[in-house]
Amino acid sequence: MAPQAMHERDGVIWMDGEEIPWRDARVHVLTHSLHYGSAVFEGLRVYKGKVFKLREHTDRLHASAKLLSYELPYSVEELEAATLAVVKKNEIDSGYVRPIAWRGPEVIGVSAKGTKVHVAIAAFPWPAYYGDEARKHGIKLLTSTWRRPSPQTAPTASKASGLYMICTMSRDAAEAAGYQDALMLDYRGQVAEATGANFFMVVKGELHTPTPDCFLDGITRRTVMDLAKKRGIKVIERAIFPEELSQADEVFLTGTAVEVIPVGKIDDRTFKVGPITNQLQDDYQRLTQSF
Ligand SMILES: Cc1ncc(COP(=O)(O)O)c(C=O)c1O
Repeated sequence: MAPQAMHERDGVIWMDGEEIPWRDARVHVLTHSLHYGSAVFEGLRVYKGKVFKLREHTDRLHASAKLLSYELPYSVEELEAATLAVVKKNEIDSGYVRPIAWRGPEVIGVSAKGTKVHVAIAAFPWPAYYGDEARKHGIKLLTSTWRRPSPQTAPTASKASGLYMICTMSRDAAEAAGYQDALMLDYRGQVAEATGANFFMVVKGELHTPTPDCFLDGITRRTVMDLAKKRGIKVIERAIFPEELSQADEVFLTGTAVEVIPVGKIDDRTFKVGPITNQLQDDYQRLTQSF
């Protein structure tokens, strides 16, 4: 049976200050952000009914909008209260929250002058992104032909919908070729990230991760770097070139959705799931179960 379509569910969605029935949370076809790619959004996980890193994600939603030259009409505190309310109302124990902000249909044209900013928050049950098989043996990544743009080309620090166009194409191409996700290089040819998660590799017991100068500095990324440091593992942020993957003893991804997931293969190169990945996966799981 096909999974239940996202727009045909029961429950409530918070939209522009009100909780409304799930199926009524609609936008007009002339919505400015639909045409010009300027929505900003977040993804949060709910563990045991509690929202993990709520303040960090809500701050980032505000920061993403600012980077696209607009302000959200609700404070961080108001959005946090709305998030907690929809999680409760929809009885989410283990799930995901998707806040999104966009410029409305009030005017059409490239200029956004005259548009209103709208905000919605949906919460729904969502199991672990990858099953036990992937957690044990790792996922397979295919290097994308698309590259993350330079910060002079796009507002790369913003979680903006327009930046996901190449992620979707990369991900779909990877899946069509039998891989689970794509590895994206940046405009310089350096390793950047996957389509919705950050990249780490272990070399001789040390953790290496690309400097986030043209992609999201993930909240999970920073959390896992702290967990590694607490374990006495040295963490090095630097430029990583794809040729260096031959030196990696372990590779894994981090993100709110994927949590900590090992990578077993990139293109034709295979990697073992090793002790540092397993340790950090366990530490992250422990943290999300008791915060
Ligand atoms: C493109 C991209 N990179 C990285 C991440 C990881 O960020 P976080 O750990 O804050 O979820 C995400 C997920 O939000 C993402 O969409």
